[in-house]
Amino acid sequence: MRRVTLTQFLIEQQRKGLMSADLRLLIEVVARAVKAIAVNVSKGALAGVLGEAGSDNIQGEAQKKLDVIANDILIQANEWGGHLAAMASEEVEEIRPISGDYPKGAYLLLFDPLDGSSNIDVNISVGTIFSVLRCPAGVSAPTEADFMQPGSAQVAAGYAVYGPSTQLILTVGDGVHGFTLDREMGSFIHTHADMTIPEDTKEYAINASNERFWEAPVQRYIGELKAGQDGPRGRDFNMRWVASMVADVHRILTRGGIFMYPMDSKMKDKGGKLRLMYEANPMAMIVEAAGGAASTGRERILDVTPVQLHQRVPVVLGSKNEVERVVRYHLEG
Ligand code: AHG
Ligand code: MN
Ligand code: MN
Repeated sequence: MRRVTLTQFLIEQQRKGLMSADLRLLIEVVARAVKAIAVNVSKGALAGVLGEAGSDNIQGEAQKKLDVIANDILIQANEWGGHLAAMASEEVEEIRPISGDYPKGAYLLLFDPLDGSSNIDVNISVGTIFSVLRCPAGVSAPTEADFMQPGSAQVAAGYAVYGPSTQLILTVGDGVHGFTLDREMGSFIHTHADMTIPEDTKEYAINASNERFWEAPVQRYIGELKAGQDGPRGRDFNMRWVASMVADVHRILTRGGIFMYPMDSKMKDKGGKLRLMYEANPMAMIVEAAGGAASTGRERILDVTPVQLHQRVPVVLGSKNEVERVVRYHLEG
């Protein structure tokens, strides 16, 4: 079997006119950073990378050492190559323009350096999520306002999952492709072509401890799934919750399912739990490109116009028919 590396795959995409040379470089650099993060994640306690960093991020969340390490790796890898105009990270309050020491490029890169931080110390899968926007034409010194583009404007999105193997999942809009890290060779190999999400599923993912805080449409939907064969759906459903969005979405991309972090009464003032620009948007782009759907419950995620870099949204994504049902329940009130 012909082994196609990420580099080969991207060059072929470029030749087909699906991406520019700079976007290819950007993805290669992110992939390189992901390899470095994977090394740190997999060494765990041996490298002293577990535990708290002793600081809080802009969200008021305690940072883990690996949150900080992954953030530094992504920033250092991406700042000098000339492919970016600016970056933004979950772990950094303000956007990070490319310093005057380096050439500036046409893209904006946003990332959640380490997703699923609560799983780091217990050796459960974590990930990295990234989103790529175009820097508006004529803007040489981007500000936060230049990042305020809906998810539908993303030119690429991806994530890495650091599980039993490290995988990189990528879309530039024309389908979803998966690559597995060959640790001995140090390269990503194209192992999953055209990943698709089945329209129907019998698996759902939600943090059920929040049930009493959910809105009525979500209570109704999950209640019906839990009622199984005896309820209105007339069949049994199964539940999974890793608490790393990357791992939960990866399962859905592999075998279908619905993932929900819906609005709940204790986070109403924040707008939801997950962050729009570097969690919900890239995952929504991937899920849609795989034939699934992604909604806030009331609106397509990719249509939400952001007003703040770290803004949060409710998230319902995965198998199309289930997501559409949840949206219908919201519209019915
Ligand atoms: P992060 O570690 O980047 O802050 O994101 C964690 C998110 C997401 O990955 C996951 O789905 C969710 O938080 C889990 O939340 P609960 O702990 O409330 O289940
Ligand atoms: Mn996250
Ligand atoms: Mn994170």
